[in-house]
Amino acid sequence: MKSKNLSHLERIKRQIEQEIKEQNAWRSECINLIASENIMSKICERAYVSDFMHRYAEGEPYKRYYQGTKYIDDIESIAQELMGELLHTSFTDVRPISGTIANYAALSAFTKPCDAVFSLATAAGGHISHNPVGAPGVLGLDVHCYPFDNEIFNIDIDKATREIIETKPKVLILGASLFLFPHPVEEIKSIAEEVGAVVMYDAAHVLGLIMGGEFQNPIREGADIITSSTHKTFPGPQGGLVATNHADYFKGLKRGVFPRLTSNHHLHRLPALALTALEFLNYGEAYAKQTVKNAKTLAEECYSLGLPVICEHLGFTKSHQVVMDVKKLGISSKEAVENLERANIITNKNLLPWDTIKQVHDPSGIRFGVQEMTRFGMKESEMRVIAEFLKNIILDKEDPEKVKEDVVEFRREFQEVKYGFNGER
Ligand SMILES: Cc1ncc(COP(=O)(O)O)c(C=O)c1O
Repeated sequence: MKSKNLSHLERIKRQIEQEIKEQNAWRSECINLIASENIMSKICERAYVSDFMHRYAEGEPYKRYYQGTKYIDDIESIAQELMGELLHTSFTDVRPISGTIANYAALSAFTKPCDAVFSLATAAGGHISHNPVGAPGVLGLDVHCYPFDNEIFNIDIDKATREIIETKPKVLILGASLFLFPHPVEEIKSIAEEVGAVVMYDAAHVLGLIMGGEFQNPIREGADIITSSTHKTFPGPQGGLVATNHADYFKGLKRGVFPRLTSNHHLHRLPALALTALEFLNYGEAYAKQTVKNAKTLAEECYSLGLPVICEHLGFTKSHQVVMDVKKLGISSKEAVENLERANIITNKNLLPWDTIKQVHDPSGIRFGVQEMTRFGMKESEMRVIAEFLKNIILDKEDPEKVKEDVVEFRREFQEVKYGFNGER
C-alpha cells in the first residue's frame, strides 16, 4: 500500500515538473495577445526567486513588526521611490499584492457601508473589483454605473454629472479593463469637488503607458489616488500599488493596505519590481511609444483586411488594446478565441458595452493587447503579419493546426526581451 502510494506521488511530481516544462516551451512558441499580461526581463526573473519568498515583513520599511528585514527595508523603499518617480506621486505604497487588493484597500479607506460609489459596468470595461461582485459588494457599497456613450466609447459626462450630483457618492472610480481611450479625469474631478468625492483612478492596464508618457497622467489631470497592478503594460512581477500626492489620503491608503488587506506582502516580488522600475527609467518611453504604435497598426491592418475592429471613427485606439466586435459578422467569440488558441495565438473573449451580462460566456468582443509582443521586439511590420494570422483564423476559417506552423516559425525570432538591461531596443 505504502509503495503504491509512493509511486502515485512520484507520478504526480513528474507530471507537475513536466507541465512546467511544457508551459514554458509552449508559451515561447505563442503570440500572446492577452491585454493584462506581460513578461519580465531575465534579470528581473532571476531576482524574483530568492530567500525573500520565505519571509515576512509586516509594517513599513525600517518600522517593522518582525526582525530579519534589514535588506527588504532597503529594497522596498527603493521600489517605492522609483515607482513614485515614474508616476509623479510623492506617496507610493507597493505592498498590495495585486491590483484587486489595491482597489479593496483604497475603497475601504474612503467609504463606509451604504456609501455610494460610481464605476463603469463590467460590459463597459469596469473590472470586477469596481463592481458589486467584487470589493464594493463586499464592503456593502451602493454601486452606480456611469452612463456610457457607445459613440465616443467613453463615459457620457453630461448624464454622469447629473447622476453624480443627485447621488453624492464618496468615490468616483475611473480606469478600466477594456480601455481604448483616456477617461475624462478633469471633468470627473470638477464634479467630485462639487459633491466632496475622492477620484480614484485604476491604472492597472495602462500603468506602463502612463509612466512612458503615452497615456493621460491621471494625477496631473486631477485624480486624487491611483491604484494599479504592476504587471500589465508595466512589465513587472505580479503585484499592486496605491499612490497619491495627498499626505492625508496616504495615511488612509496605508491603513487599508496593512493591516486591513494584507499581512505578508510577498516580499520576493519587490527586488524584481525595483529592477523593472530601473529598466523603465531607461527604456520605458521607447517601449510605451512602440506599444501604442503597434496597437494602432494592428487595428488598422485588421480593419483593412475586413476584421470588425471597433471605433474606426475614433482612430481605433490610444492604448495597447485593440477590440473586435465579431458578433457583427455572426461569429462566436468563444469559438474564435478557441481556434486562435489552437493556432498558438492567445487572447480573450470580452463583453462589449452593448452586451448584457448574460452574454458573458459568448460575448460580442475579442480583446487584444500588443504590449508583450512589443517587449519581444515586434514592430509595425510584425503587427501586419499578426493581422494576417488573425484573418486566417477568424475570417477565412483556415485550419488552426496549419496556421500554427507559421505562427511558431514567426515567433522563433522573437525570444529575447527588449527594453530591459539584457536586451537591445
Ligand atoms: C482595471 C483593472 N483593475 C484591476 C485588475 C486586477 O488586477 P490584479 O489581477 O492585479 O488583481 C484588473 C485585472 O486585469 C484590471 O483590468
